[in-house]
Amino acid sequence: MSVRESILREMGLGPIWRLRDAPEAELPEVELPEVEVDAPPEHSTPKAAPSAAPDAAPRRLSSEMLSMAREANAATDATPASVPAASRENTARAGDLDWDALTQTIQSCRDCSLCEQRTQAVPGVGDRQADWLIVGEGPGAEEDARGEPFVGKAGKLLDAMLSAIGLARGENVYLTNAVKCRPPMNRPIDASELAACAPYLARQIALIKPRLIVVLGRPAAQALLNTDIRIASARGRCFDYHGIPVVVTYHPAYLLRNPLDKAKAWEDLCFARRQMRDRSSGNGDA
Ligand code: URA
Repeated sequence: MSVRESILREMGLGPIWRLRDAPEAELPEVELPEVEVDAPPEHSTPKAAPSAAPDAAPRRLSSEMLSMAREANAATDATPASVPAASRENTARAGDLDWDALTQTIQSCRDCSLCEQRTQAVPGVGDRQADWLIVGEGPGAEEDARGEPFVGKAGKLLDAMLSAIGLARGENVYLTNAVKCRPPMNRPIDASELAACAPYLARQIALIKPRLIVVLGRPAAQALLNTDIRIASARGRCFDYHGIPVVVTYHPAYLLRNPLDKAKAWEDLCFARRQMRDRSSGNGDA
């Protein structure tokens, strides 16, 4: 079995999906990560109703969705209806920072309650001049302990997904989250927390200048795009963040619990890669 087949199999896609738009020779040899496909959720997707709210707590919801989500999340009541404008102080503070100052500011940030129980803030990791930016929701327990995003089970699946399209952590890819501190008990992040962190993500994007952003899960999508997004209906579309194309897909923690949807995530990544290629070759609308 080839490395690529192994990776696709590890993602649960081996028999179904094949990479159609790249010859095998283009894909790098990669180590196959150990991924526990049926692992329990590692992150903050609401535990009360995983099947009804697959992409974790949304940031903005239509009123109908909001009441459904409220019902579904009655145990936590943590589904935000809207996000307040980003804190002015944060925005002003983050606006002109260079990498070192930005990292330091994030690490010492106390602008929302997430600072109270974090071990450390998790600013991001990877190539600071990457073409690809991957944005998740927020650090989980292992990320909080290690100070690096996506190092737990979901992160291993993310690594496998990236490998399957010829990318590797740290090589032309930067990984970060919509919020930089772990929500206690992995609860859903709320609107004010997203707003407090938004300037940090904005500054990271301004510094990296990625050519494409892949957003993982609904809260991150709504944080970045500031609009009411459902992953199922946003898939296959290219959004815009200040001129940078944005592709949304399922969060890997969701995929660990819903392995059948890995096929869709695989399609989304192939779509993202096509966008990157088409834009490089000047076919921006493809
Ligand atoms: N889930 C996320 O969204 N981000 C991480 O860094 C880890 C898990």
